[in-house]
Amino acid sequence: KKPARLVVVSNRVAMPKQTATGGLASAMRAALQERGGLWFGWSGKIAPSSAEEQHRLNDGQIDYVTIDLSRADHDDFYAGFANRTLWPLFHYRPDLVDYQRSHLEGYLRVNALFADELVKLLEPDDIIWVHDYHLIPLAAMLRERGVRNRIGFFLHTPLPAAALLIALPKHRELLETLASYDLVGLHTARDLRALEDYFLHEVGGAMRPGGRLRAANGRLFRAGVFPISIDTAEVADIARKSMTEESVRDFRQSLDGRDLIIGVDRLDYSKGLAQRFEAFAHVLERSPTLHSRVTFLQIAPPSRGAVPEYRLIRRELERMAGHINGKFATPEWVPIRYVNQSFPHTLLAGYYRVARVGLVTPLRDGMNLVAKEYVASQDPKNPGVLVLSRFAGAAQELTEALLVNPADTVEVADALERALAMPQRERIARWRSMMDVLQRHDLTAWRNAFLHALTS
Ligand code: UDP
Ligand code: G6P
Repeated sequence: KKPARLVVVSNRVAMPKQTATGGLASAMRAALQERGGLWFGWSGKIAPSSAEEQHRLNDGQIDYVTIDLSRADHDDFYAGFANRTLWPLFHYRPDLVDYQRSHLEGYLRVNALFADELVKLLEPDDIIWVHDYHLIPLAAMLRERGVRNRIGFFLHTPLPAAALLIALPKHRELLETLASYDLVGLHTARDLRALEDYFLHEVGGAMRPGGRLRAANGRLFRAGVFPISIDTAEVADIARKSMTEESVRDFRQSLDGRDLIIGVDRLDYSKGLAQRFEAFAHVLERSPTLHSRVTFLQIAPPSRGAVPEYRLIRRELERMAGHINGKFATPEWVPIRYVNQSFPHTLLAGYYRVARVGLVTPLRDGMNLVAKEYVASQDPKNPGVLVLSRFAGAAQELTEALLVNPADTVEVADALERALAMPQRERIARWRSMMDVLQRHDLTAWRNAFLHALTS
């Protein structure tokens, strides 16, 4: 019997042949390519009115259906409630939360629109898998429209402590809709604890036998930990092959024998880029012998430019990169190569492999796939070292990285220098142990574990 069709729903969709910047899009493209299915979401375009038509496209195993959003829907839902309220709150930045009733209304309006459009596409046996904070109430809205299918939800961001969740106006109306899913997936045990704590101690829920949660509205649902991953074998393969690519060879040559430190992040305040620049500057400050011996490449494609906080962090980083380069550069050497562009995986994998250090220091991150991609891209005989924030979900699995608190400039600087000086034997031992984890827990294992739990 043919397995049931998988219907993936997310705001961001990775269209064929586009660079998928963002963990969700990267991962779901890879997860769908092999199994096949339908992917429904926003087209990324703004039109005079929302969902005037459904755009359809087929690419191999994947059928894409996307809709446009009106300016008002985009601003209230995407640039408003999703990315100025939920995103900062979920990343432990209540100071950046901007809550407006009209944004919440737009968020609910677009979720209802998604439900209306999706219902037209559904078949009775479909398994529906909804992704991320943009679409929390979607299952509740589908249920209101008579949908009886299995519906799972996966949150790609952290879920913050209950004490923060209750600061959100109308949190109960929003978060209790999670109970309309059959299964809610989170990256780490800490996220799951936050969810259970919220339901059990803040909004009158209860734990039921078999590990199910009962919300105060009487609905039963399950929640579990499913750390997302990468296609480990594929990334390793791409990285190996990329070394003969002309652009990777040229890049390597441009380093002129210097050690490379690499960072790859969407330009987001959650990524700790200012703190990272600070730590690198601290290394240069205290260790003049490293001058002109290291190059720090920070790839940071701009993200969510419609949101003011993102324009601010962009300006801040330009200022810092300019300042640090101005202070330490010589006519022959520029310490930071700061690049506001996105690159395809084929090139990134090569850059990762060339880099002696992967510097991944988010202040908070659901998982952080860049950390995993960096490890999988290394040359087994001469691997680089991962310096990783304790506050990335990936730190729960990649325990042989040099784990740091990104807010501690000296601690990050120490880890950087330790990484640069680490003997090959230690590098190999640490890499091997992390690679074992990634080989056992790859993207296929993640997808299968979630879908198995959802359908059993
Ligand atoms: N990415 C990319 N090109 C770029 C920058 C990033 O393809 O120029 C990809 C990167 O390889 C990774 C994803 O975007 O797969 C970022 O995911 P991560 O979980 O690290 O962070 P997120 O952006 O989801 O917060
Ligand atoms: C994170 C979020 C995703 C989002 C991505 C890129 O990974 O968890 O839901 O798609 O960032 O952000 P964007 O706003 O461009 O979709």
